[in-house]
Amino acid sequence: MQGLKLDNGKRTLVLGIETTCDETAAAVVERSSDGSGRILSDIVRSQTQEHAAYGGVVPEIAARAHVEVLDGIVDSAMRQAGVGFAQLSAVAAAAGPGLIGGVIVGLTTAKAIAMVHNTPLIAVNHLEAHALTPRLTGTLAFPYCLFLASGGHTQIVAVIGVGKYVRLGTTVDDAMGEAFDKVAKMLGLPYPGGPEVERAARDGDPARFAFPRPMLGRADANFSLSGLKTALRNEAARLGPLEPQDIRDLCACFQAAVLESTADRLSVGLRLFHERFGAPRALVAAGGVAANQAIRGALQDVAAKAQTTLIIPPPALCTDNGAMIAWAGAERLALGLIDAMDAAPRARWLLDANATAPAGFANTRAGF
Ligand code: KG4
Ligand code: ZN
Repeated sequence: MQGLKLDNGKRTLVLGIETTCDETAAAVVERSSDGSGRILSDIVRSQTQEHAAYGGVVPEIAARAHVEVLDGIVDSAMRQAGVGFAQLSAVAAAAGPGLIGGVIVGLTTAKAIAMVHNTPLIAVNHLEAHALTPRLTGTLAFPYCLFLASGGHTQIVAVIGVGKYVRLGTTVDDAMGEAFDKVAKMLGLPYPGGPEVERAARDGDPARFAFPRPMLGRADANFSLSGLKTALRNEAARLGPLEPQDIRDLCACFQAAVLESTADRLSVGLRLFHERFGAPRALVAAGGVAANQAIRGALQDVAAKAQTTLIIPPPALCTDNGAMIAWAGAERLALGLIDAMDAAPRARWLLDANATAPAGFANTRAGF
């Protein structure tokens, strides 16, 4: 069904459903014909408590929790928006990438709503939703450079247009949020570990241990975090029973290494962007790690050096939410990009897998 022109030039109302990881979320978003967006409702229920005892997300528990609460959350989102199902222009669900059990729950619910109310279905790539969020919260034209760092992803992406993405860099091992979580676990800090490590690092000495700066100076824009994590594990083992100050110092040194590596990787990423697509309109950061104040500071410096603007959507829209799925659905709907009822849930789904080369970018390699 792709390619239908459905945008009637008026405002569109899209329900978005997110269940790819440990947040169950639904939202209703309005898109006007001038391309601006408005969030009418945005309900997120985090499963942190269900997973805390395990120190990480347990897929089976996540899927079951989504099943239990999703209908109620969709209902709340619709009621809070003051919108009936018949008024929806489309229903969008994150169809991946993510934990397959949860993805199935969200996508199946969206299909049921679409079928019952005869509304178009849009199967959204979760990463695309992160990528397009700054166009919901403000006016931002293409192309721009996205730094996405969450529990599952660490990527630098050239956002050329809706459905047109080029991955410029990615992690070769752990995702950045995952590394923060694992470090926290090693040091006995609670889950989710990112905010805990950041808090502990504030009172630590970032120069006490000489941790590696992964990938520093490399010509590509990839990340690697597992070597740094191992260096921390070895240092912690060498110290023996850890005093509170040891934990603070280990966190500070880990974070300092992540910051330096991130700044270096992003400056390479922005250079690659420039070579291929010209000046980006902005550097956009998204994902849970973008909540880290120290990382925000480092991104500010990188953006200033690259003579571009840093945009970080509000924290609630950086982490997983339904509004970003609804918005990506609305942006796709405006281009007539709707999906058939047999759209498949996908555990893996590369952002640039189905993209086609846009006109006007001569440097673009074929096949991105
Ligand atoms: O985007 P997100 O809410 O969910 C997905 O993973 O999709 O990101 C969660 C990740 C977790 O790994 C968490 O530890 C990390 O983001 N995180 C942080 C901070 N806040 C959340 N990492 C470092 N510093 C933080 N302040
Ligand atoms: Zn996410």
